[in-house]
Amino acid sequence: MRLFCWLLGFLLPAALVAQNPFAGNAKEIDVGRGLFRIACTPCHGIRAQGGRGPDLTLGIYNNGNKDEDLFRVIQNGVPGTEMPGYTRFGDDNSWRLVAYIRSLTLRQEKPSQGSAAAGETLFWGKGACGQCHKVGGRGGPMGPDLTRVGRKRSLAYLRQSVVDPNADLTPGFFKITVVTKERRTISGVQRNFDNFSTQFMTVDGKLHSFQREELNSCEREFTSLMPPYRNLSEAELNDLLAYLVSLRGEVAQ
Ligand code: HEC
Ligand code: HEC
Repeated sequence: MRLFCWLLGFLLPAALVAQNPFAGNAKEIDVGRGLFRIACTPCHGIRAQGGRGPDLTLGIYNNGNKDEDLFRVIQNGVPGTEMPGYTRFGDDNSWRLVAYIRSLTLRQEKPSQGSAAAGETLFWGKGACGQCHKVGGRGGPMGPDLTRVGRKRSLAYLRQSVVDPNADLTPGFFKITVVTKERRTISGVQRNFDNFSTQFMTVDGKLHSFQREELNSCEREFTSLMPPYRNLSEAELNDLLAYLVSLRGEVAQ
């Protein structure tokens, strides 16, 4: 009896686990890439390294790391988020997309060689990153919350974010500059922007709100308010990156 239960417990789940019929098949992966280009790049980026949606090249996924988890997400979407479901693609095309996504994770670069502990010290100390970024509830609110950035972004993306923030502006974080009737110039990160009004946040975490008619001018630029960090040594940059990569949302709040 015990053997029977053991066999049942072992065989049943194994039989229910779906296998990707196209895993590693170059031709089918190519079809998957074509589908991805059309349907998914608006949110996940042309190289699947993220935008409105997360980076899919990391091999770690919030909704599960197995092929069947990716398949389920593609079919059903993630309720309550922007990720739509694609049942209309059918099983085969969904598996082709999974095979394509898997082919990307195989090309991941080596992890950062730095020390995450030293990077953390740099982040809150000399780097003053915490002035604009929150990690686990600590820090300033102007820039994107970095609590889970290690899950969302690749090492290459993170490196560029620090060294050359304008190269890959985080979607939505435009720079707003207004000149008031009193000729005061104020710049901050966009929170809201339409034909009649604008809202933005300055480095001190203050939210500013103006009707356009109250202003002398109001400009929106595709520019980062994050200063480029070009003076870090290679070792410091590696430490910082090791820290950023380690941010997976498991920080004590
Ligand atoms: C309208 C924007 C949008 C489009 C289009 C879109 N996605 Fe997403 N996708 C998202 C968002 C946002 C998430 C994150 C959901 C969450 O918070 O768990 C996501 C999550 C995912 C995940 C799970 C990632 C994880 O960490 O669990 C996969 C896999 C995925 N998308 C694949 C695709 C594929 C394949 C397509 C095209 C067929 C696609 N997405 C199209 C926005 C989009
Ligand atoms: C003066 C405010 C400010 C400071 C200081 C600052 N940042 Fe930023 N950071 C921003 C803003 C605003 C953005 C969003 C625009 C962009 O993509 O550059 C950003 C974006 C980022 C991103 C991209 C996040 C994503 O998900 O796309 C990373 C990573 C990042 N910063 C890391 C750092 C690190 C590490 C430091 C310290 C060495 C730092 N920042 C210092 C304001 C700041």
